[in-house]
Amino acid sequence: MVKKIKRSDGRAPDELRKPYIIKAGVVKRAQGSALVQSGKTIVIAAVYGPKKVIPKHLEDRDKAILRCRYNMITFSVKDRKKPGPDKRSVEISKVIANALSRVVMLEEYPRTLIDVDLEVIQADAGTRVAALTAASVALADAGIAMKDLMPAVAAGRANGQILLDLTKEEEDAEDAVDMPFAYIPSTGEITLLQMDGIVDLNEIKKMIDLAKKGAQQIYELQVKALKERYAALATLSEVVK
Ligand code: CDP
Repeated sequence: MVKKIKRSDGRAPDELRKPYIIKAGVVKRAQGSALVQSGKTIVIAAVYGPKKVIPKHLEDRDKAILRCRYNMITFSVKDRKKPGPDKRSVEISKVIANALSRVVMLEEYPRTLIDVDLEVIQADAGTRVAALTAASVALADAGIAMKDLMPAVAAGRANGQILLDLTKEEEDAEDAVDMPFAYIPSTGEITLLQMDGIVDLNEIKKMIDLAKKGAQQIYELQVKALKERYAALATLSEVVK
């Protein structure tokens, strides 16, 4: 049971940020796309592929290559972000690709490349989990075979409390712990679990419990976003008949 003390934005410890929005099909040019907004954190995911691998010798004859590129745009943070990749974005891109490769049925698309581009439009902590949440919706929107969607959220600790979906202000608390988490609801498999800070085992268990509950709520929003997307497409096809 999580203690119910209000946070600086008025939330209960086990509440997601407000607004928490997921939209599918937000980018016209890509095969699939999604937007996730968690409070002040906003990320857009766009999927291209499956497509030819160039140069050809890089292709895998047994499965698709999943290439993820996480990027923070220059005006996403308070101090202008230097454009281009850095150590952090390379690491985040890698953990996102690893997590997604657990749900995308890559073996269905041998000798191809699937690009997942993740743009952080505005950052207020939790960008990698927002990117992951957006990525699986964008992949589903692109019609790519998947075992399930993959909701992601951070849990952690700030000011002595175990919290869900921390803001940057909370992440900056003296005793802060941040634990980005992603999982596959249908199997219960945890696909991302990172941690900054010092915690005891009991706190980790509470954080995982809280993250699972948050992820379940996000999963429902992911499904709703895809249903709305398909309902809109069905209406469009009625019009153009
Ligand atoms: O965003 P996430 O929590 O996944 O990753 P982080 O490395 O723990 O970064 C936490 C937050 O620090 C970001 O969401 C940004 O708000 C901020 N940050 C920043 O202001 N400038 C950077 N170059 C990197 C991160």
